[in-house]
Amino acid sequence: MATHKSVETKYMEERDTLFRSMRNLDRRSFLKVSAAAAAASAGLAAPHSFVPVSVAADAESSDANPPFRFAYISDSHLYEKRINDRFVRGLLRGVDDVNNLDPQPDFVFYGGDLAQLGQVKELELGAEILKNLKAPLKIMVGEHDWYLDMGEKWQELFGEPTYSFDHKGVHFVVLNSVVEEDFWTARGMTPMERMKTVAGLDNGLQSPFTVGEPQRKWLVEDLAKVPEDGRVIIFSHSPLYKLYKQWNFWTDDADEVQQILSRFQNVTVIHGHTHQLLTNRIGNIHFHGVLSTAWPWPYAPEGMPELTIEMTRPDPFNPSDGCGNGAVQVHADGLVDKIYNLWNRNPITVSKKYLVSMGKEDLPPKPNRPSY
Ligand SMILES: [Fe+2]
Ligand SMILES: [Fe+2]
Repeated sequence: MATHKSVETKYMEERDTLFRSMRNLDRRSFLKVSAAAAAASAGLAAPHSFVPVSVAADAESSDANPPFRFAYISDSHLYEKRINDRFVRGLLRGVDDVNNLDPQPDFVFYGGDLAQLGQVKELELGAEILKNLKAPLKIMVGEHDWYLDMGEKWQELFGEPTYSFDHKGVHFVVLNSVVEEDFWTARGMTPMERMKTVAGLDNGLQSPFTVGEPQRKWLVEDLAKVPEDGRVIIFSHSPLYKLYKQWNFWTDDADEVQQILSRFQNVTVIHGHTHQLLTNRIGNIHFHGVLSTAWPWPYAPEGMPELTIEMTRPDPFNPSDGCGNGAVQVHADGLVDKIYNLWNRNPITVSKKYLVSMGKEDLPPKPNRPSY
């Protein structure tokens, strides 16, 4: 007798096969697993390819300051795979996209919130998947990675949350911008209650994010060796400006950090956390938000920075709409073009020229679909 399998049964079987084959995620099995995940999650057979980016030298480039490109993946919010596999598929797709870049980026930056609730299995799963990146990984911490065990597991896997490095004449700084004052001890919260309170963002109980005094002091010392016309790119998880406090789209000591950066001709800040196209410029500082592989947040109700070209609200029938990953093209002067690789939309480039001209030149395309 022929057995008829329901859609759910087929889905669950396919899911089991996917995760069984994830047990040993070496390169060869990753390729199989990620291709299956991409096909299943999006109805797309092949990984999204990026818009070709011109890596030709610009006028100011030199041997000391060559232009280069790095890719980013961010905010995957992984649950354990037995609980939720959609976000796992999202990260697999991000890694696959980046591995398909030709030429490969110089490195891949991961923008924080790898885990959903900071749990050992979530973080280990993320680390296991990220090992399959062909290019070197640089990673930053997000609040979802941190507040269960106060960063213990994350640091065991990835090292210090605050560090800097130099690459092709650019000084990169990675900050932990999600430092919160203790709101949990007085309330007698368990570690999981603390984690869920921070993850809630809009519950009103937690403290605002900060970089905090010790890190600001470290930042001043770290940047002391960089001249005023040096090329500086900062990674922070929350935006290093004040956008919307109720959702912690906000860093409470942003003004102090901006003050530290004010002596440079130009600085770029790339941040995660907001899960959307977000562009801002405050004086000498250019800010770019990055996309999430898990879900897009809605835009803050109090309005956007003037330079932001908003993406349309996602298609409710497509769970990965409004998600994606992308790349950053670094020019010889240290300023960047930001490429948003939206999975189910046309990629969008927000160029250095657009920010330098305060939105007068090189306007990114307006969204090409209606909002829902
Ligand atoms: Fe996030
Ligand atoms: Fe976050």
